[in-house]
Amino acid sequence: MTKVTRAFKLFRKYIVYKLKSRHRKGFGIHSPFLFALVNKNFREECSVAVKNGALAYKKALKNQISPISRSNFGAGSLLDTSNKPTLPAAINRTIGMPRKYGELLWKLSKQYGAKGTLELGTGLGSSTYYLAAGTPEVMLVTIEGHKDYAEVAQRILKQIGVNNVEFRTGSFTEELNKLKNEKAIFGMFFIDGDHTYTPTLNYFERCLDIATADAVIIIDDIHWSDEMNRAWETIKNHPRCAVSIDLFRFGVVFTNQKFQNQHYTVRY
Ligand SMILES: C[S@@+](CC[C@H](N)C(=O)[O-])C[C@H]1O[C@@H](n2cnc3c(N)ncnc32)[C@H](O)[C@@H]1O
Repeated sequence: MTKVTRAFKLFRKYIVYKLKSRHRKGFGIHSPFLFALVNKNFREECSVAVKNGALAYKKALKNQISPISRSNFGAGSLLDTSNKPTLPAAINRTIGMPRKYGELLWKLSKQYGAKGTLELGTGLGSSTYYLAAGTPEVMLVTIEGHKDYAEVAQRILKQIGVNNVEFRTGSFTEELNKLKNEKAIFGMFFIDGDHTYTPTLNYFERCLDIATADAVIIIDDIHWSDEMNRAWETIKNHPRCAVSIDLFRFGVVFTNQKFQNQHYTVRY
């Protein structure tokens, strides 16, 4: 399938989501914790300090004037089609987190990040910034396979004063195995890399191995391709998925088995 066809399919899915999604203010959601999440947390204004930090991140990224190589890891991007060394700010325009969803990560991290967060796919650190800002007192672990990206992300986040991030450079599989051997446990996960069916399911399972019983797992780009649609359907029906929310871009899974099994498509 060509990138144009895929982009068209994605757009069509977005229109369907816009027509079918509900509960923008939480109404119609029966579970009290989900109602509060959608009605209150999702609609909270992002703090000025976090917005300013995001601006500082962008500025620092623009000041990186040496082109870097592109990552060969994962399934690639609809926008990121070149293999030539490129300026980090230009790469980030194709792989980075848009402000609206970055701020949502901040909200989720504030709410659920206290037991530690693991991110798969640092990229150049835009999502890492928002996740780390949500729980500045807790160490966040982020994994990136491409050394050039990991180096830039680490440099820039340090420069803008983000000190609660542990960077791990290596493949997701290797690093997840290491974390399991180290007996690490996390309460929140953000999976943003290698957006194909089998790897996504594998990473989801490996994350469950090192998750608290009440973990929150956020998966990016759940409708990005037919394979990702399928992966999301499989994850929703996984025995460890108690509650799921489809926000079109993110799929959010709650593993707490005390919750009644429910699936919502929420307009965000
Ligand atoms: C979409 S980008 C991440 C963007 C980042 N989360 C952000 O919002 O700025 C996906 C990243 O995952 C990395 N990646 C993909 N598959 C990987 C794998 N199997 N092991 C390690 N890194 C991988 C890629 O190198 C790429 O930088």
